[in-house]
Amino acid sequence: MIEKMRKTTRLWSPTDIVIDPKTGALSEPLDGFEQAVECLARGGLMAIPTETVYGLAADATNSTAVAGIFSAKNRPSFNPLISHLPNLEAAQHYGQFNDDALRLAEAFWPGPLTIVVPKQPHSSIADLVSAGLDTIALRVPDAPLMRALSYTLDRPLAAPSANRSGRVSPTSASHVIEELDGRIDVIADLGSCSVGVESSVVFCASEQAVTLLRPGGLSSEAIEDCLGKVLLRAGSDDETPSSPGMLTSHYAPSCPVRLNAVTVNEGEALLAFGPDLPDGSEQASSILNLSVSGNDLEAAQNLFAGLRQLDSNGTSLIAVAPIPDDGLGEAINDRLRRAAAGR
Ligand code: TXA
Ligand code: MG
Repeated sequence: MIEKMRKTTRLWSPTDIVIDPKTGALSEPLDGFEQAVECLARGGLMAIPTETVYGLAADATNSTAVAGIFSAKNRPSFNPLISHLPNLEAAQHYGQFNDDALRLAEAFWPGPLTIVVPKQPHSSIADLVSAGLDTIALRVPDAPLMRALSYTLDRPLAAPSANRSGRVSPTSASHVIEELDGRIDVIADLGSCSVGVESSVVFCASEQAVTLLRPGGLSSEAIEDCLGKVLLRAGSDDETPSSPGMLTSHYAPSCPVRLNAVTVNEGEALLAFGPDLPDGSEQASSILNLSVSGNDLEAAQNLFAGLRQLDSNGTSLIAVAPIPDDGLGEAINDRLRRAAAGR
């Protein structure tokens, strides 16, 4: 086996990033910005925070750089990546937006929603980004640095979550260091992510229906209200599109996870939700409450850091209290089911 080339990973902590909210262009000078643009232009790999999770970004039109993302993460190459753009107009250079796609983009971008649309013919995005599919996943994140870098580079930034494949997504720079130190060029540190779970992914490449491929940081209720129709669910029958990336076991801590725990056994760690704790909680080796008040937004924000923390305490099992499925609860429960699967 060939040893993976070890890189020196540089930590960059920019402050006071000011952009034009409409275009995403940087509107005030920023220390280190030019160097960061040059790094990406040369095909470098940079961890950049978004409102959802930290992404591992590279120039989406540079196939060598994109291959570097797959290799740094040990990601299977059949799993396509999201391309991040500074604004909707830029996104339309790469994807064909139907009425539903346009309506969603106008309502929710910049924000935690990824829209899968047919690729524009002659798109310069590397084939590896879409894993050979004729559709492309596009997102304008609510992330000033990502938008400004993409705007100045004048290229989409391909970025999966900045973790090794199959592991919990990073929501702070220290998580990225744990995952990818020595494998990438730069980690931009802007603190913790405000949403905390990955974007919702919708498939808008058919005229009739919109399919939810992955529940995420934007609630299904909000998407359905905007569209005025019900979302199909991926894999609900043979006709509905599905997403190559939705492997059943994913987002996994290293210890087993037990869901919907209404009792806790001695020595188990408890991931709690809301004011009422399950029976036996006093026997837990440690307790982390995602949201004492039972707020889904707060719980999403704390989810991945919470799993990491309980996992690092060396516990034998993480028991997860029941979490209602509404709002961001759908995405939280999706990630927790994957964390619990296959063990
Ligand atoms: O919040 C997020 O979405 C983060 C940040 C960094 O933007 N990114 C992220 O990327 O979660 P990743 O690679 O972990 O997840 C991308 C998802 C995968 O489930 C992948 O299969 C799906 O999007 N996807 C990408 N392109 C697709 C396509 N053409 N058709 C269907 N699914 C696609
Ligand atoms: Mg991921």
